[in-house]
Amino acid sequence: MTYFHYQNDELYAEDVSLTEIAKQYGTPCYVYSKKMLLDNLKNFNLAFETVPHRICYAVKANSNLAILNLFASMQSGFDIVSLGELERVIAARGDPKKIVFSGVGKKSHEIIRALDVGIHCFNVESEAELLRLNTIAKEKNKIAPIALRINPNIDAGTHPYIATGLHENKFGIAYHDALNLITMIQSLDHLKLIGIGNHIGSQLTELSPFSDAIDRLLELVDQLLNKDISLQHVNIGGGLGVQYRNEKPPSIQHYASALIAKLVNYPLEIILEPGRALVANAGVLLTRVEYLKPTAHKNFAIVDAAMNDLLRPALYNAWHDISPVQIQKNISKKLYDIVGPVCESADFLGKDRELALKTCDLLAIQSAGAYGFSMSSHYNSRPRAAEVMVDKNKTHLIRERETIQDLFRGEMIL
Ligand code: LLP
Repeated sequence: MTYFHYQNDELYAEDVSLTEIAKQYGTPCYVYSKKMLLDNLKNFNLAFETVPHRICYAVKANSNLAILNLFASMQSGFDIVSLGELERVIAARGDPKKIVFSGVGKKSHEIIRALDVGIHCFNVESEAELLRLNTIAKEKNKIAPIALRINPNIDAGTHPYIATGLHENKFGIAYHDALNLITMIQSLDHLKLIGIGNHIGSQLTELSPFSDAIDRLLELVDQLLNKDISLQHVNIGGGLGVQYRNEKPPSIQHYASALIAKLVNYPLEIILEPGRALVANAGVLLTRVEYLKPTAHKNFAIVDAAMNDLLRPALYNAWHDISPVQIQKNISKKLYDIVGPVCESADFLGKDRELALKTCDLLAIQSAGAYGFSMSSHYNSRPRAAEVMVDKNKTHLIRERETIQDLFRGEMIL
């Protein structure tokens, strides 16, 4: 089910035509469907409804305040990795008590603020972090709730840049070091171990790495139970893939039932940290064709969005479907490379796409709701795009297009 659909050869987001949105807000512009966001979150919750669970949306996937606020209004928790993300969640009226704080490099001031607002727990990734947390908690006369992120050395079978569960990756605590660290935690007065977890990578399209990773976690949980160490939760991370092209990721229901089958006999709350699966297919990047440039070797369609707006194709060679906003019936289709104005050959949004195009046409880069705007930059001094949320037949600007002045903010001439 998608809420981006054609009506009379024109692409709509819910009940609003993307042509209208481009007219009103300009391009490039991210467009999100509120209903799709809500459906995705509801489906996740429904799939896990038979077990105690908490969804902590991975803010990095899309950190727009309106999206965070929408999820907060649905009782979602949040997985954050920086002070910036923490402040975003608070500004969006998210509940700090439902925040888990991941990341290998938490700075002291970030830890202090997280302790002050009373987050649910810190997902700890190293011994050094444990010691820093204990020292800071002691200075503040607090107890820091922590969960250990275990690195189970499991291949997630995804792009190497987004695989996080192998020993060669910087993430998590090696499985074999976990018990020793847990003994150490017990000797530290200002830490309380409440959970254990993992996150082995992103855009996983098979179930087996997830279930192998959980088996490893549960082996540890069993060992802890034998030592009378009880936990409150197990965190199974995020990582569920979406379909960008011809991948066949497990459905949310399959994913949930496979994992619930393993976890159901443990008296533990399940924490999940999905990002992409909640937002990817709820957003498109709307862009306009500026120039058609046929050459002896290739046809280029030069559009007004670029790698600074959507980095995934350049960084991971990622595929996003590219759809015309108005289907042109009187023009013949050709193979086009859809490229932006940025001065790099990596600046493409799609290669060899069969499209019928003319100058000024609008295109929708599909499944751009996750790691789209949140990874955008000012490269080539390009102001960042506007973001719009569609709710049935209404549109809401949820982030203004940046101005040229925004580009220089904080800079000084000597
Ligand atoms: N939890 C942790 C600790 C994470 O590091 C991540 C993502 C998630 C949860 C959410 O994973 P998801 O459900 O979204 O797969 N920029 C890349 C993806 C990087 C993911 C980083 N960590 C991309 O565009 O594909």
